Amino acid sequence: MHSTVEHRCDLLIVGSGAAGLSLALKMAEHCQVIVLSKSHMFEGSTKYAQGGIAAVFDEDDTIESHVKDTLEAGAGLCEERTVEFTASRAKASLEWLINYGVPFDQEQDEDGQSRYHLTREGGHSHRRILHAADATGAAVQTTLSDAVKQHPNITLLERYNAVDLIKSKRDTNRVLGAYVWNRNSEQVEVIKAKVITLATGGASKVYQYTSNPEVSSGDGIAMAWRAGCRVANMEFNQFHPTCLFHPQARNFLITEALRGEGAYLCHADGTPFMQKFDERADLAPRDIVARAIDFEMKRLGQECMYLNISHKPADFVKKHFPTIYSKCLSLGIDITTDLIPVVPAAHYSCGGVMTDLNAKTDLDNLYAVGEVAYTGLHGANRMASNSLLECVVFAHAAAEHMLPLLSESMSEEAIKPWDESRVSNSDEEVIIHHNWHELRLFMWDYVGIVRTNKRLERAMHRIELLKAEIQEYYSNFRVGNNLLELRNLVTVAELIVRCAMQRKESRGLHYNLDYPNQLDNPAVSVVEGKQ
Ligand code: FAD
Ligand code: SIN
Repeated sequence: MHSTVEHRCDLLIVGSGAAGLSLALKMAEHCQVIVLSKSHMFEGSTKYAQGGIAAVFDEDDTIESHVKDTLEAGAGLCEERTVEFTASRAKASLEWLINYGVPFDQEQDEDGQSRYHLTREGGHSHRRILHAADATGAAVQTTLSDAVKQHPNITLLERYNAVDLIKSKRDTNRVLGAYVWNRNSEQVEVIKAKVITLATGGASKVYQYTSNPEVSSGDGIAMAWRAGCRVANMEFNQFHPTCLFHPQARNFLITEALRGEGAYLCHADGTPFMQKFDERADLAPRDIVARAIDFEMKRLGQECMYLNISHKPADFVKKHFPTIYSKCLSLGIDITTDLIPVVPAAHYSCGGVMTDLNAKTDLDNLYAVGEVAYTGLHGANRMASNSLLECVVFAHAAAEHMLPLLSESMSEEAIKPWDESRVSNSDEEVIIHHNWHELRLFMWDYVGIVRTNKRLERAMHRIELLKAEIQEYYSNFRVGNNLLELRNLVTVAELIVRCAMQRKESRGLHYNLDYPNQLDNPAVSVVEGKQ
């Protein structure tokens, strides 16, 4: 039997996307930081972000207008305080990224002065999205990763899965560290820290079709909930209206900025259809556009709808959307002349671990930043390009708040070593694979864009069966990436369905045919932490 390897640091950050790296850079001036990454440090939703980041830069735009648009997209369920907090810190957060060197696109104004090019996306009443062509996330991820790699106070551990938080036995509101599975040695190790932050991203991989990368399996949400934190609004999983529909590119996004620059949704014969669903047509908030596409696909019995930008000059399209242009061309679709086949896919978790404006969770030294968190910003539907913004704004808020905790000494409470004495190597990987597919498929079919009470009950029944099987497997076999993710995904699925069952109305991203109307006094749906 191996003795458990133990690491120590002041601050442990689980996740190396925009949220985790922004926090690491802020805190490394003050303390020793370990950043964990389940895969390579680059791999997470941040890298794939296309459209951009919202902030008021145009002199005709106002913070009040950014707040108003966010509240409207959030369909009456945003926390107004959080929206104001975020919108008013947006410009400073973008300037922080610019100072690190993120190359946002610029243009010349009439007087020949350089200014940031601002694009538009659904729900925004102004041009207010800063972007680096159509690969903004890659620019952010590269810039922050380079800075983190050079910082002497940051240790990056790649290919390490956080498994569970370790709670104190003496002070049940404290976390001592985390058990982590080192994929290289295939051993579970312990990381002790004064403060821990979850920056693990979202949970959209719980659905069969998603725009998200492999790592988005809701690990941080499941870990925090198991440790006793409340989670909220999990029913609001956002479906992006336009993922490329092609057998060789299942989760490639076609940014909403295409519609911001004049593209429109249409049938195979080129007929536009969004006007009949909403007066804002192609720039209506995402929930409305995704449901409209779903409706048209089902009504016409078709596998996809289409996006058309071929009426715009080819040079303009290639300059603004070089990534999409070349990806589609590699699949035989020339977007300057052809219609682009698109379908909705799970894209963003609006709910998550409940935090306050300091990104602090229900536990004293545990923070959650980025898509893993529920801050109240997005309400029932996130407005485009508010998510990367939330990552940076709340990383900065968390950094300020956690600073005093670092002057405390590290707890010397003994941590139970990881016990592998009663487990063996898995002999039936097929069970894990089968359960993976089954879970993601019924979540898509029963808890997708359109829901009913019966479908939610069916989903919950299956979740109970899978939970028992997965728990048995987890108790008997050595852990590995697929098993760890499956254990977290089934928890996330349960939390989504429990929140969906609490909501007796249709609002934003949650549409239930049995409750088609909105309640007058909607509430956040909360699931108490596991006891
Ligand atoms: P991520 O960037 O997803 O990073 C999560 C990190 O956690 C990864 O490093 C991962 O390895 C790590 N991790 C997860 N679990 C574990 C574990 N158990 N142990 C160790 N490490 C773990 N938002 C916008 O604002 N504008 C956009 O234009 C935009 N476009 C998007 C396009 C696409 C295709 C997608 C998928 C999302 C887009 N979004 C956009 C949403 C936005 O990109 C994400 O919400 C944001 O990047 C999340 O950042 P994050 O740091 O919270 O998580
Ligand atoms: C997109 O570019 O369409 C995605 C933007 C977002 O998810 O915020």
